[in-house]
Amino acid sequence: MRSVRKTVLLAILASVVLVLALLHSWPTRASTAVDVWQRPGPIDERHLEERLPEPDRRFGNIPFHVRDNVASLLARNGCVCEGDSGGVNLPFVQLLFPRVSAHPLHAAFQAPELQEMKRRREKEYRSFQERTQTPADLLLIAEANNPLQYPTYLMGPLLKPRFVPTVPQINLTATLGTLNVAAEVDRVKIKGDGAMRMTLSSILLPNLNRQLQFVTYTNTLFHPSTADTVQFETEGHQASFSIKIRHGVTPKLYNTGSKGEYNVSALVTIATKTFLRYDKLQDLINSVRRYYPTVTIVIADDSETPQTISGPYIEHYIMPFGKGWFAGRNLAVSQVTTKYVLWVDDDFVFTANTKLEKLVDVLERTTLDLVGGAVREATGYTATYRQTISIESGEADGDCLHMRRGFHHAIQGFPNCVVTDGVINFFLARTEKVQQVGFDPRLARVAHLEFFIDGLGSLHVGSCDDVIVNHATKVRLPWVSQSESDKTYAKFRYPPASSDATHTKNGLLFFKNRFQCLTHN
Ligand SMILES: *[C@@H]1O[C@H](CO)[C@@H](O)[C@H](O)[C@H]1NC(C)=O
Ligand SMILES: *[C@@H]1O[C@H](CO)[C@@H](O)[C@H](O)[C@H]1NC(C)=O
Repeated sequence: MRSVRKTVLLAILASVVLVLALLHSWPTRASTAVDVWQRPGPIDERHLEERLPEPDRRFGNIPFHVRDNVASLLARNGCVCEGDSGGVNLPFVQLLFPRVSAHPLHAAFQAPELQEMKRRREKEYRSFQERTQTPADLLLIAEANNPLQYPTYLMGPLLKPRFVPTVPQINLTATLGTLNVAAEVDRVKIKGDGAMRMTLSSILLPNLNRQLQFVTYTNTLFHPSTADTVQFETEGHQASFSIKIRHGVTPKLYNTGSKGEYNVSALVTIATKTFLRYDKLQDLINSVRRYYPTVTIVIADDSETPQTISGPYIEHYIMPFGKGWFAGRNLAVSQVTTKYVLWVDDDFVFTANTKLEKLVDVLERTTLDLVGGAVREATGYTATYRQTISIESGEADGDCLHMRRGFHHAIQGFPNCVVTDGVINFFLARTEKVQQVGFDPRLARVAHLEFFIDGLGSLHVGSCDDVIVNHATKVRLPWVSQSESDKTYAKFRYPPASSDATHTKNGLLFFKNRFQCLTHN
């Protein structure tokens, strides 16, 4: 009896432990779907507009005189390209008196095509703008304690004046440019115009405020992207604001060739790196062709005795022997001319579940730069290998790198997708972004997440588990003998943990990325 009770007790205990373990491993964070367009909503924008100061009607009556030499320099929307006209066309004249010439660029397209090109360019440009603008680009007005709107009279104990009105004076100080005024307002004294420090003073406060509306800034110390912090001082108060100085970002737009549905051949290039495994590569190419007969496949190959791989829409780049894994990725990606690049390993096989249109749709309709799919092993196990990566600052010893399986949150409108920091070797990405981050060619053998570590802070990464590619069997069955090429491949690709490859990898994390240590699960 007693032993029965003991057994029951043990069983209860065991099930409690099991339930607790289950609860522990259950995702604790209820994941909410987030709209990943990062632009501010209309409410935020309206809210900001309401805070802009009302134009003061009194200002309309304050007389001012425009300074043509300054006003004419102000930026205007609506540019034209004009060349120098006239002049004689003689040899050497261009050398002695260089003339400006102007070139219209729309001439690259014929009239019937031009309208369609303009339409496509506009569409790509709009989505580029939506992706690149951040809430930090919005004008924010700091509601200050408004030093200039001081009370014109004071309430307080009689005979104890606390406030001595002086001539209101404003000092403006810049460090990378000069200050000037586009118009002079009556009864305002301007000192230091055209210099880095300008003083405005007037006994009439409205005039001083009006004058402030005409202050201009000209950058003199050129840097393509920087900011000048301008000091704004008045009696007893100080404020500062930054002036962003930069060239606009030049867009790099791709003609996606589509009117309605996504045209994968025009949008995507498949990139892969091969080393010795030509049989596997051929299986990959055959499987791709079954679903995407005209998509371009770029192959980087660093085999010792390269074989010919030919066929339509195939570009085969032969590299020096054993250049390595990331060097090959870099080469392949550098040759891509479509908007997106799909990375695959050479031993993957496309199936009916490898729907690239779905991945294209995610990148077209979100701000993500890269989206991973899922890889199915021969055993049936499917992996997405989602990783979150975070960096904790350390002192002189360097920072700490933490990698954990998981993701940040789901994506609204895409129930199978999440936002994360790193994904599996099967991903679709904006070509330009991948080229910017690059694959460090020093990582020759074992490397993958290093790319995502380098891209942290610039790549917006997602992962979807409903686009699946198959992995040609990796688990070697003992009764199947390995081919010669597989054996050589394994020697290069999977070196032991104590090898030079691991040292190189850790050395780069230590020196290049300035980490002192790494944790992962
Ligand atoms: C402005 O600058 C001048 C000269 O540097 C200084 O004498 C004056 O006190 C400053 N005024 C304010 C309001 O800071
Ligand atoms: C898709 O794009 C390819 C490559 O740009 C092009 O040759 C083909 O005509 C396009 N197909 C459609 C249906 O637009």
